[in-house]
Amino acid sequence: MPAIEVHKLSKRFGSLVAVDGISFSVEPGEVVGFLGPNGAGKTTTMRMLTGYLPPSDGSVRIDGHDTFRDSLSARRAIGYLPETPPLYPEMTVAGYLRYVTAIKGVARGERRDAVDRALSRCGLEAVERRVIATLSKGYRQRVGLAQAIVHAPPVLVLDEPTVGLDPIQIREIRDLIGQLAEPAEGSKRQTVILSTHILTEVEAICDRVILIDSGVLAMDEPLAQLTAGGRRLEEVFAQVTSGDRAARAGEAG
Ligand SMILES: Nc1ncnc2c1ncn2[C@@H]1O[C@H](COP(=O)(O)OP(=O)(O)O)[C@@H](O)[C@H]1O
Ligand SMILES: [Mg+2]
Repeated sequence: MPAIEVHKLSKRFGSLVAVDGISFSVEPGEVVGFLGPNGAGKTTTMRMLTGYLPPSDGSVRIDGHDTFRDSLSARRAIGYLPETPPLYPEMTVAGYLRYVTAIKGVARGERRDAVDRALSRCGLEAVERRVIATLSKGYRQRVGLAQAIVHAPPVLVLDEPTVGLDPIQIREIRDLIGQLAEPAEGSKRQTVILSTHILTEVEAICDRVILIDSGVLAMDEPLAQLTAGGRRLEEVFAQVTSGDRAARAGEAG
């Protein structure tokens, strides 16, 4: 069973078609880079994957659960780092994560372990008693990742997890995501879909690339195939996106 199954998914905002009938599926353990120019529809798609936004058309299944008909199970199967993580600045790191386990339906007796595991996997043990507002942006982003994984979901959806960080923090968060994708003790490899503009990030951690442009699926290929023969991702993307623009301009004119 695919970890993520997206079927003819669309989202309209008034007359704007933000996502236009995209379909793809992601197998368990795959790490997928979800790319596209600003305004392409990445965030809108991710919000539909995670059940935060109802689709105008089409459907999404997470780990077999329909996000609409079986929304509670679908949400529990997913960890989501939104563009702006829902952090509570006045809470401590551990207190906040404990709170998230309660919302995510982790049984009371398992919450302590769940929080400890998330703290450890995200390198947050040294700051667990700190108030979130006092942390650097890099550490706040670690807390964002920790809240996404704290209920041990099989699927992670990360929306531009390194945006706004400095180069050193970017590398730390990228390495951390690479580690999170690897199996935790006694579990399977994590399925991850992440959006980013940083192509070195994609080359470093993704197995596969999905590119959308103006809400339309423009490419879906294994990374190894895209970079075969020493091709740089940058060239591939420039070609695909500008090609689409030229075609549309042709249609419009
Ligand atoms: N809530 C909304 N209402 C109206 N338009 C929206 C809304 N959310 C996104 N859009 C529009 O949908 C398009 C896709 O946006 P978004 O999914 O945020 O793109 P990306 O994340 O790829 O930059 C953009 O044109 C954006 O302005
Ligand atoms: Mg976005």
